[in-house]
Amino acid sequence: MEKIGILTGGGDCPGLNPVIRAVQRCAAREGWQVLGFRYGWKGVIENEFVILDSQAVSGILPKGGTILGTSRTNPYSKDGDVDRVKNTFTKNQLHALVAIGGEDTLGVANKLSKEGLPIVGVPKTIDNDLNCTDYTFGFDTALNVAMECIDRLHTTAESHNRVIVVEIMGRHAGWITLEAGIAGGADVILIPEIPIDINEVCDLIAGRHKRGKTFSIVAVSEGAQLAGQDVTQTQEKDAFGHVRLGGIGNTLAKMIEEKTGFETRVTVLGHIQRGGSPTAFDRVLGTRFGVKAIELVKNRKFGCMVSLNGRKIEAVQLEEALGSLKLVPQDYYNTAKVFFG
Ligand code: F6P
Repeated sequence: MEKIGILTGGGDCPGLNPVIRAVQRCAAREGWQVLGFRYGWKGVIENEFVILDSQAVSGILPKGGTILGTSRTNPYSKDGDVDRVKNTFTKNQLHALVAIGGEDTLGVANKLSKEGLPIVGVPKTIDNDLNCTDYTFGFDTALNVAMECIDRLHTTAESHNRVIVVEIMGRHAGWITLEAGIAGGADVILIPEIPIDINEVCDLIAGRHKRGKTFSIVAVSEGAQLAGQDVTQTQEKDAFGHVRLGGIGNTLAKMIEEKTGFETRVTVLGHIQRGGSPTAFDRVLGTRFGVKAIELVKNRKFGCMVSLNGRKIEAVQLEEALGSLKLVPQDYYNTAKVFFG
């Protein structure tokens, strides 16, 4: 029986389980057995896996997170780990591996594929910052959670005549903040792609209050920079060299309170945005990506990644999708700006 592997790497997100389920279902139709590697590349390095039969994927469609577990393990950061990955392929006679992840996990997939390993990629991230795909699953769920939180913050901000700064995930891309801000009617939206002008922010808030509004909601991305600098929780870096962003909400709130005199509070949404059940959009996208991934394996289209182009699921070269991030363009931000203040 042919065997194929599957792994989920990087930050978890809603929609991973629908991909795993679709991959298992389609692989079974081909008569292939699926080995589910535990905790991303770590499981491949250590040859730790579970057999995914139809029973193992039953009932997982609506579940958030990943039944396989995940980690930010990078086989290229430790001597010998790439050889261990290769051994796992040989030992299990893997016909192919489906790697589900963001830029880091897929970056590893791309490198290994160039070394001759049969890998296809499936893009995931709540940040929606991967090139060559209109959307990644996880984003829609995170966006809807963030929007609902902004709705909730409105009622309490209004009752107390407060400014509330809401800090939203997304790393160096402002997609979640921008779209949750538009959908939730935030009064100011600040994203990493556009430098913050604190005077402009305070003028917008003061202007609202002059017009008789008694509260304001400021949506800020965790990756928005102050004076050209990231605001970080620690200087420690993960295996892919990323620092942990966070804290801009508090810094900004202090500045706003000092400059405007309005009482200001902060809400950091954090991992709430990544948890819980996927939306219908993310379940469908994950399912379609999983089905396409097996089609790519069947056609030996290794080194490719599945992608969403308009309404179509297509394949692109992993290489094309990596290397730079998909960021919010200025004209999209300008649309949001119409509603500021
Ligand atoms: O990439 C997804 C993401 O949720 C980012 O938006 C965020 O910066 C990061 O992961 C948080 O990572 P961790 O779960 O390791 O704290």
